[in-house]
Amino acid sequence: MASGSGVAALVVAACAPKIGGSGSDSTVAPTSSLAPGTTVPATGGPVDVEISMRAINDRVEIRPGGESEVWRLVAEVTDGDASAVVPVGESYLGPTLHFRRGQRVRIVFDNELSEETIVHWHGLDVPEDMDGHPRFAVPNGGRYVYEFTIENRAGTYWYHPHPHGRTGPQVYAGMAGFLIVSDDEEDALSLPGGEFDVPMVIQDRAFDGDRLVYMRNGMMDQMIGFLGDEVLVNGQPDAAFPVVPRSYRLRVLNGSNSRIYKLAWDDGTPLTVIATDGGLLAAPVERPYVTLGPAERVDLWVDFASVPSGSDRRLVSLPFDAPQMGGMMGGRSSLPNGAAFDVASFTVAGAAASTDPLPPVLSDLGLASIDEATNPDSARTIVLAMARGSWTLNGRTFEMTAVAPEETVRLGTTEVWEFFNAGGMGGGMMGGGMGGGMGGGLAHPMHMHGQQFQVLDRTIDDDGRAAWETVSGGYVDDGWKDTVLVMPGERVRVLRRFTTFPGLFLYHCHNLEHEDMGMMRNFRIDPA
Ligand code: C2O
Ligand code: CU
Ligand code: CU
Repeated sequence: MASGSGVAALVVAACAPKIGGSGSDSTVAPTSSLAPGTTVPATGGPVDVEISMRAINDRVEIRPGGESEVWRLVAEVTDGDASAVVPVGESYLGPTLHFRRGQRVRIVFDNELSEETIVHWHGLDVPEDMDGHPRFAVPNGGRYVYEFTIENRAGTYWYHPHPHGRTGPQVYAGMAGFLIVSDDEEDALSLPGGEFDVPMVIQDRAFDGDRLVYMRNGMMDQMIGFLGDEVLVNGQPDAAFPVVPRSYRLRVLNGSNSRIYKLAWDDGTPLTVIATDGGLLAAPVERPYVTLGPAERVDLWVDFASVPSGSDRRLVSLPFDAPQMGGMMGGRSSLPNGAAFDVASFTVAGAAASTDPLPPVLSDLGLASIDEATNPDSARTIVLAMARGSWTLNGRTFEMTAVAPEETVRLGTTEVWEFFNAGGMGGGMMGGGMGGGMGGGLAHPMHMHGQQFQVLDRTIDDDGRAAWETVSGGYVDDGWKDTVLVMPGERVRVLRRFTTFPGLFLYHCHNLEHEDMGMMRNFRIDPA
């Protein structure tokens, strides 16, 4: 137990002027939210681990032989167990943070970028002022001190910036990393660990020579979501992993701004999924392929002993039907959403090693029951649609601190929420309009901050069915989730507890261009 430095958690807002954007060219201006010097509630007690994290400008070699300008989150342990921060090789990716359930952590964050930012711990359940809400964004030279206890189950979480209007460009420029939580329940399973436990973030990027480029098509990229021309894993193109013939745990994160992956093994072996966003499933499940929307995670278990030594097994993304997007994307990205491509290859070499068998039972999920819900038959419905040229939630776009009456819930309750993708920007778009008709439209990966939820059921309308059936066999709805893909014409009902922290939290589309244009709202949990 390292002793705390006794500082109050506060926002140090230097009066540095905002310097014009560097590197990225979004059409959305940065938003200032907090007055300089604003303080968040003092904490400052003893913690188990203290980390210094900085947002910096950097240059890294992404493509061999040339450097690109990136923005990165870098970190080091300043007090406590040094293994809490593990750098990730040669890339822009932030280091992997390793925490234990129950640990108290302090993260002292310094913004050295020329624009405001704030870091969010995606999937963690933390108090409102520790969640990286855009109202806490700090300017250049600003500091934000986070302090929270890891309440989450063991699982694959991540961190990324969350300033309003600038999340897409900042994540794209490199600001993201894994946050992995372990606990006693998981330890008891002897799942593949150490070098056999491989975090893999999949992101698509576009380059001009060696230089990362974003928003090549201006407003069109904002409306659809940015799509790159090539797929990187852990910040590296043409990802290849040398492996030995034994079992591995692959922690797969879709860290892309807007691309959806339909992951499969190239040889047709089914995927074995052991965990989703909120940690281990009750038992492993198999899927012919896994559909992974932006921000979603799956942990795959794979036994490379079944692959002949000296040969490869490739993780690929299969084609799927994204008709309305495909037409619009023609000629814009060389890799439209729904295109087929390789993600990573695994080359098996060496003698068979002793392996960890796949446990038949993984975890006690502690799922909620619909009987707990205050509204079992009348879900709180959030309609996802295009209105007045913008993506909206129940017709509204983001307001920094506002909540609508239907966005307030009471602490201590469990509720059914329903995300309904009403389409919009379908065939009409191709004719030059921004019509909001039913049918057509884009998928929206809906994310809620705070506690994880569970998917109750999904229904699809007739217009959306054909496209839906090309991805729906890859949904993994069996465990805890914080992000759920909602296809055009689809209704997804989720069951969520609001039982830990009161306050103002976000729910939004995790297509980062949609989020930045305002497809994000607050919900407020009022004390009981
Ligand atoms: Cu991963 Cu509110 O975001
Ligand atoms: Cu989040
Ligand atoms: Cu969206």
